[in-house]
Amino acid sequence: MSQPVEAVLVGAGNRGREAYGAYALRYPHRLKFVAVAEPIEERRELFARQHNIPPERRFASWEDLYAQGQLAPALVNCTMDRDHVASTLPALELGYHVLLEKPMAVTPHDCVRLVRAAEKADRILQICHVLRYTPFFAALYEVVHSGRLGDVMTVEHKENVAYWHMAHSFVRGNWRNSRTSSPMILAKSCHDLDILAWMIGTRCLRISSFGSLTLFRPDRVGPEIPERCTDGCPIEDECPFYAPRIYLTEYTGWPVSVISLDTSLEARLKALQEGPYGRCVYRCDNDVVDHQVVAMEFENDVTVVFTMHGHSHKEGRTMRYDGSRATLRGSAAENELVIYDHVTGREEVIHPGQIGGGHGGGDTGLMNAFVKAVRNPGQEVLSSARASLQSHLMAFAAEEARLTGQVVDMVAYAERIEAEVMAEEG
Ligand SMILES: NC(=O)c1ccc[n+]([C@@H]2O[C@H](COP(=O)([O-])OP(=O)(O)OC[C@H]3O[C@@H](n4cnc5c(N)ncnc54)[C@H](O)[C@@H]3O)[C@@H](O)[C@H]2O)c1
Repeated sequence: MSQPVEAVLVGAGNRGREAYGAYALRYPHRLKFVAVAEPIEERRELFARQHNIPPERRFASWEDLYAQGQLAPALVNCTMDRDHVASTLPALELGYHVLLEKPMAVTPHDCVRLVRAAEKADRILQICHVLRYTPFFAALYEVVHSGRLGDVMTVEHKENVAYWHMAHSFVRGNWRNSRTSSPMILAKSCHDLDILAWMIGTRCLRISSFGSLTLFRPDRVGPEIPERCTDGCPIEDECPFYAPRIYLTEYTGWPVSVISLDTSLEARLKALQEGPYGRCVYRCDNDVVDHQVVAMEFENDVTVVFTMHGHSHKEGRTMRYDGSRATLRGSAAENELVIYDHVTGREEVIHPGQIGGGHGGGDTGLMNAFVKAVRNPGQEVLSSARASLQSHLMAFAAEEARLTGQVVDMVAYAERIEAEVMAEEG
């Protein structure tokens, strides 16, 4: 039997512990974490205990870890968005194959720098575009590329973020402010732009975008509303975002597990009284949009409209592809694709198979692919940094289009960024 691939973890936060740490515990014959770098002691020690990592292999930062040289063939990087470049470039230089959380970087130039660094070092740099690895999107890809829809003319794709998820991650949580993390179109929707670029399979030529932060603003409430839900809020009964209703129930999985490592009721109440997740959603330091549309033109005249919004009753992506031979409608939450054939008039319903793990099985599929690629270097990964670059650049261009009100010429934009990085390399 083959030995598990050995890896080090950088950043033992939510993704590091709950997605990839959990994978290694579930599939010990595939992946083993042999070292961890994490500044928060409680998180570092918990991860080390769960994975039997000895004290001399526990580090307070990626810098301390890298000072040891290369400790394993693979490295999983789950730091926050703005730390990705500084923590990945030296890892590639040391010789690690790297699995890097999305977005790979928060500027277009840094994305290109990472892609070029991985190519130069001849190392795998795989981006966690988990949706590509889900049975649902794999089935959608198969239908679109089978030719059954004929020529795809136009696509509508919606990322319906549930109201509570919007409040948790993008108003109170890690991705609320574009200055400390990244704009919503990158943080949340780089997955969607990546899926669209992958499905359509040609270059995006032009991009425009509109959107704003409309609901989660201080001017939405009066001075009688307190800073925290736990301070006796007069509108707690009618407010959909009242934190105790979201976080103080019997359920302790994600996102409740994010507010406190100790999930006892007392610890969670304390987290709401003192931490970021108990803050009034109208009184946070958030600036990312709560709804945005992006209109795109791809080669061969394919037009695409993408909508992201944080006001959905239910979480889940929906999509519609209209082609010269058939129409396809899909719902990831329902795990259902329906094809309506223009010639026969027949409808076919597909329910793709399911695999365990977060993101509709995408976390598991992504890790399976990474482990396989580390075992067989040279094997293509679906979401290599180079493959993920187009959609990251589309996200930056969409944000530029939204902020300037201009249509961005995507081809010229991508060429300019790559040329600027190459010029800087000399
Ligand atoms: N693929 C997906 O679908 C998906 C979903 C959610 C989040 N993400 C991405 O995953 C990344 C991590 O998100 P998260 O929710 O786990 O965040 P998190 O804040 O829970 O975890 C980040 C961890 O990095 C640690 N860290 C900070 N400085 C460090 C250093 N010098 N050395 C080592 N560790 C350090 C932090 O202490 C923290 O524990 C983000 O980039 C996020 O955008 C991806």
